[in-house]
Amino acid sequence: MQIDLSGRAALVTGGTRGIGREIAATLARCGARVAVAARDQARAEEAARAIGNGACGFATDVANTGEVTRLVEEVEQAFGALDILVNNAGVTRDNVLFRLKDDDWDAVLDTNLRGPFAAIRAAARGMMKRRWGRIINITSVVGLTGNKGQANYAASKAGLIGLTKSVAKELASRNVLANAIAPGFIETDMTAAMTPEAQRELAAQIPLGRLGTPGDIAALAAFLASEHAAYITGQVFVVDGGMVM
Ligand SMILES: NC(=O)c1ccc[n+]([C@@H]2O[C@H](COP(=O)([O-])OP(=O)(O)OC[C@H]3O[C@@H](n4cnc5c(N)ncnc54)[C@H](O)[C@@H]3O)[C@@H](O)[C@H]2O)c1
Repeated sequence: MQIDLSGRAALVTGGTRGIGREIAATLARCGARVAVAARDQARAEEAARAIGNGACGFATDVANTGEVTRLVEEVEQAFGALDILVNNAGVTRDNVLFRLKDDDWDAVLDTNLRGPFAAIRAAARGMMKRRWGRIINITSVVGLTGNKGQANYAASKAGLIGLTKSVAKELASRNVLANAIAPGFIETDMTAAMTPEAQRELAAQIPLGRLGTPGDIAALAAFLASEHAAYITGQVFVVDGGMVM
């Protein structure tokens, strides 16, 4: 089975590093033109150059609704359409409940949940008109299980699952599909802060015996963006080496 995304235009938020960068590169290898959005213009452009296949970089803070709306318009202008939206940008601001500040709550919810909402709202119009669209939201296993010290992050990722299912129902009749991917522990800057010992202990609790790689997530994203996934919507796919089953 080959995944052919030629003729498709994609937008990946937070595509300059980690999971987002690998998703952007994989979509481009499958033939899509990819827009990479990140807060820093130079980094977005560097990622786009490295990704190739006509990729473009855009400076956007996804926590800012106006910027997200403008981003979608700019991508539609640059590529003539936006077919595949990957809401990947995400942040953590961990602390135990009583130490979590309102700011910690707002920063995480604004980036991880309101950003995807604004991007979907802006992108859905064109997708509905063209009767084709793929929305892929990167949530987390923590959105399913909860996690000590991550009330804000878990709430944002659980919210993203509710958002995914709601828009899947609203947009299905126009052939616009929305799904979520819930990674477990993936080797990126987000997990690099852990000590090697903590990483080893963690790996021992994962049935497949290792942390995941960005490629493990990107392969599923490319499949969900493709024609092969035409009968799949409103689903949450856990990619975690069997950790939370
Ligand atoms: N790494 C993991 O183990 C893991 C597990 C579960 C879920 N996730 C989720 O996967 C996604 C990617 O995570 P990662 O590990 O690659 O993280 P990362 O920190 O390496 O990359 C996150 C990306 O998002 C961008 N970003 C952050 N805030 C932004 C903003 N306001 N506007 C625009 N861009 C912004 C960053 O610049 C970066 O490019 C996130 O949504 C994260 O919550 C990661």
